[in-house]
Amino acid sequence: MLNDSIRYHNDTLHIDAVPVTDIIQQIGTPVYLYSLPRALHNLQRIRDAFGHLDAHIHYSAKANANLAILRTLIEAGAGIDAVSGGEIYRALKAGARADDIVFAGVGKSPDELRYAVEQGVGWFNIENVAECDMLNQIAAERNISPARVALRLNPKVAANTHPYIATGHGGAKFGLTAAIISEILSQQEQYPYLRFEGIHVHIGSQLHDTEATTRALKIALDLIAPYPNMRTVNIGGGLPVAYTEDDPLPNVAAFAETLTPLLKDYTVLLEPGRSVIADAGILVTTILYVKQQQAGQTFYITDASMTELIRPALYQAKHTIIPIIRRGDSASRPTSVPATIAGPVCETADVLGQARLPNTLQPGDHLAILTTGAYGAVMASNYNARPRPAEAAVNPDGESWQIIRQRETWDDLLRGER
Ligand code: LLP
Repeated sequence: MLNDSIRYHNDTLHIDAVPVTDIIQQIGTPVYLYSLPRALHNLQRIRDAFGHLDAHIHYSAKANANLAILRTLIEAGAGIDAVSGGEIYRALKAGARADDIVFAGVGKSPDELRYAVEQGVGWFNIENVAECDMLNQIAAERNISPARVALRLNPKVAANTHPYIATGHGGAKFGLTAAIISEILSQQEQYPYLRFEGIHVHIGSQLHDTEATTRALKIALDLIAPYPNMRTVNIGGGLPVAYTEDDPLPNVAAFAETLTPLLKDYTVLLEPGRSVIADAGILVTTILYVKQQQAGQTFYITDASMTELIRPALYQAKHTIIPIIRRGDSASRPTSVPATIAGPVCETADVLGQARLPNTLQPGDHLAILTTGAYGAVMASNYNARPRPAEAAVNPDGESWQIIRQRETWDDLLRGER
């Protein structure tokens, strides 16, 4: 969806002050383009919404871990939520302070835990009793008190979102049951090298209401009430983003307003990913072919596919798709026709979306797939031996831009093979 940074100006799509056409002339397509001003604006909006609380944001690197994006958000004061040794490594390379990183994840390996302890990572979000034992032992061997621990609760609350991105229902692999958290907290002295200070609760991503989050949070708060050392509540990510005009969603302010009364006596951590970077990014593609299929549909076959953007194939996600150049003035725009936008990959699921597009579009014309800054480039793959796309960003000044990741080459595809 369009916004203050990604919008038409003189009928050409712009990222801030830069025409998309300028960038793609130089680096081609498919390419992810980002507005760093928009990412910073989103970070600030979340900060303002939760401004009445003692709240700190750890940007969730899984949404988009490009170094330039991490660096920009870190310089603006964000900590980082990392879910692997690789993400911690990236965050440190981008300039994060180790103690401003939270290390989350349902299956941290012993090597990853050792690396995180040695680097001095600030928080460990723990999801398993054996993980408590392992972390305690790693810290004991080095005789360092590791960071603070937040126990991740599985509150048995089903989030209103796509089932693949719901994490808080009893059947999910995520979190510890309330009974196990109570047991750990009642035996804290068994872990002399752990500092239990927080509870973590994240019931899913792209949450469609505040009610389930409130319920989950109340369960978490009841659980820690008897323990005066448990003064931090990490409410995870999940703040939703509109992908189409008719996406009915609570905004960030609504979440903050609902949760603030519950959280006012605690230190609060947030791990937003999508709400920071999704609407700051677009995927730009070139139409390779137009074809009419037997059932009468028009297909635009593009040079972007499910290997650049897997969300439509994996989650039936809908992204708004628009032309980079609008032709005709508003009175004389060409007729729009329903079309299916699909990539070259040998899978029927390789469809990027449906859209009403001008019937004048031809091979060589460009389309933008909007709101793809989060879970786009990071989920790209090399399936069908397709090099991963380039990425470029308009800098915080809103006027200059830079390539922030080179397009992969065929040689890159062979690296490490024999
Ligand atoms: N914290 C935890 C513990 C998480 O599991 C996640 C996302 C986040 C924070 C960040 O959530 P966000 O603010 O972005 O909603 N690939 C999927 C989304 C997977 C989300 C995984 N966990 C998609 O494309 O929709």
